[in-house]
Amino acid sequence: MYLFPLSRVSPEARSTPVWPGIRPIVLLAVFLASGCGSSGGDGPSGDTGSTDSGNRLPDLPNPPISPPPSADDEPAAEASHFNTVTNFQVVRDTGPRIPEKEAPKVTLEEYNAGPLEPEIVVPPGLDTTQNRPPFFEGLTDQETLAGQTLSVLFKPVDPDGGIPGMYPEQLPKGAEFVDNMDGSKTLVWMPLQRDVGIQEFTAVAIDPEHSGYRTHHTIRIKIDMPDDPSTIPNVAPELEEFLPHTARVNDPVVLALRGIDLNGPVPTLELPNPPANASFVRHPRYDDYFILRFVPESTGNLSIEVVVRDAVNSSLTSTDSVSLEVLSASDFSRQGSRLRDLAGQRNLRIGYASLQEFFHRPDGSIYADIAAAEFNMVTAENAFKVDLINPEPGRYQFADADNLMTFASLNNMSVRGHPLVWHRQLPDWVLELPEAKRQGAMQEHIVRLMARYPQIQDWDVVNEAIGEDGGLRDTLWLQAMGESYIETAFRQARAVAPDATLLLNDYDIEVDGAKADTLFELLDRQLALGTPIDAIGFQMHLWSNFDEFGEVRRNFQKVADLGLDIHVTELDVALTEDGGTEAQQAAVYRQILAICLEQPRCTTFQMWGFTDQYSWRENWLPLILDKRYQTKPAYHELQQGLAQ
Ligand code: G3I
Repeated sequence: MYLFPLSRVSPEARSTPVWPGIRPIVLLAVFLASGCGSSGGDGPSGDTGSTDSGNRLPDLPNPPISPPPSADDEPAAEASHFNTVTNFQVVRDTGPRIPEKEAPKVTLEEYNAGPLEPEIVVPPGLDTTQNRPPFFEGLTDQETLAGQTLSVLFKPVDPDGGIPGMYPEQLPKGAEFVDNMDGSKTLVWMPLQRDVGIQEFTAVAIDPEHSGYRTHHTIRIKIDMPDDPSTIPNVAPELEEFLPHTARVNDPVVLALRGIDLNGPVPTLELPNPPANASFVRHPRYDDYFILRFVPESTGNLSIEVVVRDAVNSSLTSTDSVSLEVLSASDFSRQGSRLRDLAGQRNLRIGYASLQEFFHRPDGSIYADIAAAEFNMVTAENAFKVDLINPEPGRYQFADADNLMTFASLNNMSVRGHPLVWHRQLPDWVLELPEAKRQGAMQEHIVRLMARYPQIQDWDVVNEAIGEDGGLRDTLWLQAMGESYIETAFRQARAVAPDATLLLNDYDIEVDGAKADTLFELLDRQLALGTPIDAIGFQMHLWSNFDEFGEVRRNFQKVADLGLDIHVTELDVALTEDGGTEAQQAAVYRQILAICLEQPRCTTFQMWGFTDQYSWRENWLPLILDKRYQTKPAYHELQQGLAQ
């Protein structure tokens, strides 16, 4: 059977892979030879049924609904002064910058409908007849003009006595939340041209007796332009906050510095005392960024002064500095064998999720060297997600994925393609697709990505198909195709890459519960249909107090009993807020590794990053190296577990 009339897919769709791997034309020949390409009839509704079970897939749509990748979608070589790489050619996307998604605006009608009701969050089990919620006394919507300073008092009161705590959900740029030292705070803000319209500001009052009992109060602030705009002061531009980074002496360092002018065009940046042999240029595509590249030649804390100059009034400037901790090469040495060498002896693939554009960061060299030394597998944390790689119909941004493929190839690392079909990080053009178009778009996306990267041997074909409380997650894919989207996706993937390992990937399926129950029910149905699922990806985003290891062992075995492989795909172990320790964290890493090693079908052990400097759960320090790339107990536990 065949799914996607590749024979009618435009040649561009089989664009040249970045790696001299399998040429797409070979791929196409394999595809056709496998019988998938055999004509099932001329029309778009070729013979697409799964012949082995009699359940027929719905008819397939015509070939790609969006224009194929064009020459403009092919990344171009990036000048070396924009990155930290010295051993391969980095490429960058060349098309126009994709505009940031704007938050939905509050309309005048909504504003005139009157103030919003506060939202009360009641923790489970709390008796609200005995404990009334805190509230903000006398708080109401506001009106002002750009250039005028607004002061709004936030005075939280609790009807049962005591002084509630309080915090702002998010401060507008340039605003302050002044503490009046009497339990109240004042929002002080001078809105500018960019703030004209109706802005929202939310403060949260916390019950004095129960911190989970909270009142979220959102006010609207209507900002108009004054009759005379020259009354609006031209505020000095500022330097965007630059977070602390660790670098290594004699490594290339790249700092992306951004000036922000709250009421004017993009400012310029100047370095009164630049480091030796530095280049400092405005980025050609991201013109609000200036890129500083240099090689620190001595260790210590480096502070670099930056002058931010207003683009309209050149006498209006602000001065700031960015700091960098430069360590010696020996500060990054790690005792014992490298994880990938130890894992290789156990025939285990050990991997990490790679930070986007790591080579555009100050510590890009350290990051790359440690990754290459410790891991034999890599997944792009975000580069393959649709809103990044295919942000508009027919528009592709392959650079970040291409660079990762080159990096992986250079370091003999296999790559896991993640994800093909997911409900998150979808661009508007996909979210707005009518149901009838979704299957075609889903199949086209699978074909385009797999055809471009034939060297990828493991793909998360469907990610997070199971709902939080069990059952299938109600996604736009399920709404359009029912459960068959899963079969369609896997068959399409198999048709493009017959030899790849195709995974169903999810979280919270490693322990007993509704999600695991749904997983095994789903697998029974799909495997009976002949859906080509080869392995299950257990994400395993855990906490340091995790202790359901018996359930993990059992669920792994249940998957193995179905003849499927097991991949640990996104392991990280966050420190619980009640004092979780690095020793507890290390024990969880060690236990999960042991369970994988003792399970013959567990072939892959991958973490969702490796340094706490870059983690989606950074507040809970979940990874095996700290923010300065120093080993934590978890790293040593993995080393010992692999060496045993
Ligand atoms: O790229 C945009 C950037 O242009 C924009 O300026 C910025 C601020 O709005 O957002 C950037 O996109 C962010 C993206 O990461 C890339 O940095 C998204 O907002 C942010 O939501 C996204 O978070 C990722 C998340 O998946 C959602 O895709 C995390 O980094 C990533 O660690 C996390 O990984 C997922 C796995 O893919 C699936 N399993 C769960 C895991 C954790 O959620």
